[in-house]
Amino acid sequence: MELKEQINRDKLPCHVAVIMDGNGRWARKQGFARVKGHEKGVGAVKATVEAAAELGLNYLTLYAFSTENWKRPKYEIESLMKLLVHAIHNEMASLMENNIRLTTIGDLNALPSKSQKELQRAMETTSSNTGLTLILALSYSAHWEIVEACKELAEEVRIGKLATEEIDSTLFATKLSTVGIPDPELLIRTSGEYRISNFLLWQIAYSELYFTPTLWPDFTKEDFFMAILDFQNRERRFGLTSEQITLVEATKKKRTK
Ligand code: FPP
Repeated sequence: MELKEQINRDKLPCHVAVIMDGNGRWARKQGFARVKGHEKGVGAVKATVEAAAELGLNYLTLYAFSTENWKRPKYEIESLMKLLVHAIHNEMASLMENNIRLTTIGDLNALPSKSQKELQRAMETTSSNTGLTLILALSYSAHWEIVEACKELAEEVRIGKLATEEIDSTLFATKLSTVGIPDPELLIRTSGEYRISNFLLWQIAYSELYFTPTLWPDFTKEDFFMAILDFQNRERRFGLTSEQITLVEATKKKRTK
């Protein structure tokens, strides 16, 4: 049976986040400049988005450019920004056809104005789509996001809009750029690195982590399906015991009967 057919559609993760890593190493292995790896990586982005839409996932977040990536050579940054603009431009029809809504997290103001404009246009055009929500993390880092949230809360306390005692994790989450988006249930990282690299640190508190040695440009739909299958074979306990989880599941089943 094909991998896709083995996936239980009733147990899909609602939100999958991906750290796309290994473009540079892929290029080096082939004797190309790093930018070639990013170019090939766009194909893997397309395959992953298609796979997520085919399965009927609700949210897919891709770590496309981190706050730390601004320290890369100027030429590489410019090439990545150009690739992003081209990819969005070229994929607009496909996003509409597949009912995909595009949105972003991160400090968009830090991007070149051309990239900002293209992203704004794509977000507006796709805003009424009701299928997969594709979230691009751009100029994003979890530290940046958490510090911004703290500043906002501190200001609300300063002007008397909020009392310090009222701050709890639910309120804190509303100040993050992912407000309204459920936390990822599965986080995938490619390229054989076992790191989180400042990505969605708050939101992945209970996420399942999946690491694969595949370099991002080689990542296919089948690799994505494999990660989903792996996720479905895990027991998620959220701090409870196995026995408690069995009881919770049985109660849920009874209620939906
Ligand atoms: C990590 O590989 C990848 C990136 C920093 C950028 C990811 C961007 C793309 C796949 C292309 C454009 C994106 C979209 C959403 C259309 P690396 O360069 O860190 O690889 P290395 O660790 O092997 O050097």
